[in-house]
Amino acid sequence: MPSPRLVVALDVPDPARAASLVARLAPLDVLFKVGYEAFYGYGAAIGEVLATHGAGYALDLKLHDIPRTVEAAIRAVVRPGVRLLTVHALGGASMLEAAVRAAEERAAELSIAAPQVFAVTVLTSLGGEDLGELGLSGGPGENATRLAALARDARCAGVVCSVREVEELKSFFGAEFGTFCPGIRPSGSAHGDQKRAATPRDAREAGADYAVVGRPIVEDADPVGAARAILAELRG
Ligand code: C5P
Repeated sequence: MPSPRLVVALDVPDPARAASLVARLAPLDVLFKVGYEAFYGYGAAIGEVLATHGAGYALDLKLHDIPRTVEAAIRAVVRPGVRLLTVHALGGASMLEAAVRAAEERAAELSIAAPQVFAVTVLTSLGGEDLGELGLSGGPGENATRLAALARDARCAGVVCSVREVEELKSFFGAEFGTFCPGIRPSGSAHGDQKRAATPRDAREAGADYAVVGRPIVEDADPVGAARAILAELRG
């Protein structure tokens, strides 16, 4: 089983700091993750920095709108370097299908490999009570599995999930169904607001495809050292 790919979340407010992180970490062959903070704050600038370094990245925009709008958004952001895009499974089957189709069609027009589309099922910040308020019956686990099935049927490459869910998802949907896992904390580090953290070793043992790490790397005084230690644990 290949070891999980390390994904470094560029969750920093300052574009110069983000650029410096890319310059220092790109030689380690990590994937970067551009989320809300970087994309809305300085998306164009960081896109250029990533392109200069030939760095691959995930665009974690968690898109959720009518199919036509999501399709247009995806057409607007697909470019060389974008390896993965996220959408909300709660946008429904037609939206998920439109997202996958748009990623494939736009990539073909540009003669590049199509980014994988990954679906967020249930946000980890939502508990059973929150789901009830939203009119969803069943607990977070049940809803996450149902939404993962919807994503799989729409040809999404996988789901965003916790390391703890990887084995079950792979046994339901097959080893090829991808898992993009945030909430990774090296043993002994602060958990921040991640309530169900797992270690890089847990991610490897569970067979996660992507291990997403933000603060333990980007807030470390030595981000390269922190990333190397996590890579060593991911590779076993
Ligand atoms: O700093 P930390 O390692 O907690 O960063 C995790 C990253 O993964 C953040 O960019 C966060 O937005 C993202 N994420 C998450 N939980 C999810 C989905 C995405 O923490 N369920």
